[in-house]
Amino acid sequence: MCLPFFFRLEVCKDSFGLIGWSFGIKDCLPEMIDSNFTFCYDKVNTAAIAVSMEVETLEEKEISQAVIGRLPRYFRYLGELKDQGVERISSQDLSELMKVTASQIRQDFNNFGGFGQQGYGYNVEYLYREIGRILGLDRQHNFIIIGAGNLGRALGNYLNFERRGFIFRGMFDQNPELIGMEVRGVRIMAMEEMEDFIRENDIDIAVLTIPKTSAVSVAERLVKTGIRAIWNFAHVDLNVPEGIEVENVHLSDSLMKLSYNIRRERVKETEETK
Ligand code: NAI
Repeated sequence: MCLPFFFRLEVCKDSFGLIGWSFGIKDCLPEMIDSNFTFCYDKVNTAAIAVSMEVETLEEKEISQAVIGRLPRYFRYLGELKDQGVERISSQDLSELMKVTASQIRQDFNNFGGFGQQGYGYNVEYLYREIGRILGLDRQHNFIIIGAGNLGRALGNYLNFERRGFIFRGMFDQNPELIGMEVRGVRIMAMEEMEDFIRENDIDIAVLTIPKTSAVSVAERLVKTGIRAIWNFAHVDLNVPEGIEVENVHLSDSLMKLSYNIRRERVKETEETK
């Protein structure tokens, strides 16, 4: 099979106007969708076959929270495939690997323009990079942990956050006995230092691992610092102004799901033995 080649011209603009352009012969792989202007010239048929104009950037499109919720899992699987040296994968193979339907995968990826090409499948490296970009993982996020107890320390000790660009910068607690101790090289500070530290260290995420009785008042203090997001482990709903993201984590929800599935399996087994 002869893969078509394309003549590709990219024009890059900034607010001052045209700042650069480049062109070359390229096989028209999924990366064509990332440029603002892509002209594809089919060398085989000597005819222009596609002109794609992606004026809207990928992030500007509204993507449903359900799809966003699935992206980290795609990102994780694609990262593993990339590490194994896999260059491309069909939606069918990805579907078998991830145990979701191929049509679900195609539908999800169609939200961002497809990423794939008929007969080629998905370019793993490209897809991994683009999903990472959509998830905002192409930039670094500095975070602090408030509450240096069991959970706070466990999260602080987890190295993989850094791999994803989440940098552990500071830890705070109200217990004077903990102040000055370190968790993975990060000093535990007094709560009085929190506001200045957030402002001076470009902190965008605060992780709350304190009891629910104090989580609301600490969240109010965080809001005043201009923090962007709160990763809330305290078992209480936080009321924050628009523009501040809150992600509630309840590990027990996951356990309850597990419990439901165990129960369902048991019911199935009982019905089969009848
Ligand atoms: P812990 O008792 O070991 O640690 C809590 C820490 O928070 C202590 O060091 C304490 O001094 C500090 N603290 C309390 N009030 C504070 C305040 N106002 N400002 C600063 N520091 C304060 O408790 P653990 O096991 O680490 O759990 C922490 C919280 O996370 C608990 O509320 C627990 O219910 C919750 N949790 C939530 C989970 C989830 O899946 N969402 C899972 C496990 C715990």
